[in-house]
Order: sequence, then C-alpha cells, then structure tokens
Amino acid sequence: MTSAQSNTSSGGRTRPVLGATIVGTGLAVPSRVLSNADLEKLVDTSDEWIVQRTGIRERHISENGETTMSLGVKAVRQALDNAKLDPSDLDLLICATLTQDMICPATACRIVAELGAVPCGAMDISVACTGFVAGMNIAANFVASGQFRNVAVVGAEQLSRIVNYEDRNTCVLFGDGAGAAIVSATDNADQGCLYQSLHSDGTGWMQLYCPRSEAEVPEGGVFNGQVDTLQMNGREVYKFAVNTLQSTILDAIEGSGLSVDDIAMVIPHQSNTRILDSARVKLGLPEEKMYVNLPRYGNTSAASVGLCLHELMNEGKLKTGDVVLLVALGGGLTWGASVWRL
Ligand code: ACO
Repeated sequence: MTSAQSNTSSGGRTRPVLGATIVGTGLAVPSRVLSNADLEKLVDTSDEWIVQRTGIRERHISENGETTMSLGVKAVRQALDNAKLDPSDLDLLICATLTQDMICPATACRIVAELGAVPCGAMDISVACTGFVAGMNIAANFVASGQFRNVAVVGAEQLSRIVNYEDRNTCVLFGDGAGAAIVSATDNADQGCLYQSLHSDGTGWMQLYCPRSEAEVPEGGVFNGQVDTLQMNGREVYKFAVNTLQSTILDAIEGSGLSVDDIAMVIPHQSNTRILDSARVKLGLPEEKMYVNLPRYGNTSAASVGLCLHELMNEGKLKTGDVVLLVALGGGLTWGASVWRL
C-alpha cells in the first residue's frame, strides 16, 4: 500500500483568490440509539471489547423511513437557519455519501428539491469517509474563484442499510447521521481555505468495499457472506489509517506554512480512538486540540467531520481567526485535508 508521504502528485493547493467562510453548520442523527449492550444481543461481542478496541459506546440508527436524504435535509436546513440564509440563496449543494438513496438521481438533487432550493446546482461525491473534507475543498474552490457565493456541503450516511448485523467485525463500528456546513464568499480575504489536499490509492480498494454480487469479491478478499454490505479487513485499514492520518495532518500543517501551535483544533474523521490517539501523540498535539465525539456516534463515514464541526461551532468553541484542520481517510482508499482560517 502506498503511504501518504510518497504521493505528492495531487496534494497541496495554496491560498485561494477570494475569502470564503463557514457561516452556518447543522447536524441530524436518528433518535434511535443502538448501544454496545444492544449489540451484545446480536453478535458475539461485549461492551468492554468494543470500548477498548474502538472507543465507541453507542451509535444512532435510522428508523421509520429515515434515509440519507431525510438526514441530509435536516442538517442543511439547520445550517441555513444558523447562517440566516434562505434555501433560495444557495448556488450549489454537495452531498458526500457512500449510501446514496438511489443510483440515480443524486441524493443532492432531492435534498435541494426538499429544501425548496430549485434550481440550485447539486451533486453527490463518493469518496467514502473522506467525503466531507473533499466537499469542503470543492466548496472552497468554487467560492474562492468567484463562481458561487453560497455552497452547502453535507456529509450524510445511512450506513445501517449496508451493514451486516451478523458480522461482528463491522457492525459495532458504524452509525447513521448527517453534518452540514454553508460556505459563503466574504470580503475578508484573510478568511478561507489555507491549504487542501486529496489523494487516493485504489490498489487497496479491497480492504474496504461493498460488493453487489459474489463475482465482485476478490480472490482471498474479506467477505462476510452477504452482498450489498460493507466488507472490511480491519487490520489492514488500521495500519493504513494510523500511518496516513499522521502524515496527512503533518503535510497540511507544513503546507499551510503553520506550526502545530497555530492550529486551534484538528477535526479528524471519527474512526477509532486508538487510531486518533496514536496520530495525536506522535504529532505532539495536546488532547484538547483534537476533537473526538466517536463514543456517541460511532463511525458515520462522510458525515463524521461535519458532525464534529457543528458541535464545536454550536458550543462556541471556535472563534473568528481560529485555524481548524479537517482531515479524513477511508475507503477507496482515499485521504485528504482542508485547513481553514475561520
Ligand atoms: N467483538 C469481539 N471480538 C471481535 C469483534 C467484536 N466486535 N470484532 C473482531 N473480534 C475478534 C476477531 O475475530 C479476532 O479474533 P481472533 O483473534 O480469534 O481471530 C480478535 O477480535 C482480534 O481481531 P483484530 O481484527 O486483530 O482486532 P483489532 O484489535 O485490530 O480491532 C478493529 C479490530 C476495531 C476493527 C480495528 O482493526 C480497526 O479499528 N480497524 C480500522 C477499522 C476502521 O476504522 N474502519 C472504518 C472505515 S475506514 C476509516 O474510517 C479509516
């Protein structure tokens, strides 16, 4: 597997032309909570094992017709309210998801329609857990170029739809939810995306994949026996995540021309507290500078960084001028970062 350090071909874009700022955020999670104790009744596992190996205590699971779209609509609506914007103010909506409701149309189109924001541009992006960070990078570029004034980014997932609840290797990890941010143009050129990166290594695709038929299962690859569900080689993904998280954060700090001390908060994709702690300690980041809400939501793939961003904004833990570093990695394999001065 190629490491992040050895691939610099598509990384590192420098300062945008115009200012861009995050004017509002939103969050939606289903009300149904699936605890570790609930999972003990489904598979051979224990609360102790799950907490020790992952840090996860509970996750939210959709019910009563909740979908990726309905979660996405709620999160974007809240973000628009917080931004004091009307749906009609939106120029573009990007939905990052690996659980799009249908192959066609894009979930983003239906979110736009539900919000009453037609004819706002809409597109889905599919880079698994890296989705929200990739979406923020795309939004920054559209706004900084002057192409669009208001762009909504939402990471929305109904992972429970593609989890096999008989596979203890995966079912304890994932949860449903949506996190959204509105990126808007500003006259203050000091605000915006200072640095962004986006990478992939498709040679490692079989470490985390969702086959539609048994014919797609690679020889010797992990398969839990149920198609249309997530297949994961946990140990390989773990190794990839530990190495890549640290190097992606380091590249982003250096690429921004900053030091660790200049970063107000690192907001990582929420995968596993052991993965996050390992990178944090190696980078010399104090505990309070890496945000973690994984125990309450599990791994929500493309939604996770958006969920964190909203909680931080909502609780007033970030202020104008702060530098935040969004970073994520996941299936594909994919990884990337987005550094913002708020
Ligand atoms: N409960 C109890 N035992 C379990 C469970 C469970 N839920 N799951 C696996 N085990 C068992 C295994 O069967 C194995 O048993 P064996 O030794 O008899 O074969 C044993 O526990 C150890 O298994 P490992 O896979 O070595 O356990 P590990 O310490 O690596 O933890 C885990 C597994 C948590 C999945 C870890 O590998 C991991 O977090 N990997 C990264 C996964 C990830 O983050 N994926 C998300 C998508 S990508 C991303 O977000 C970065």
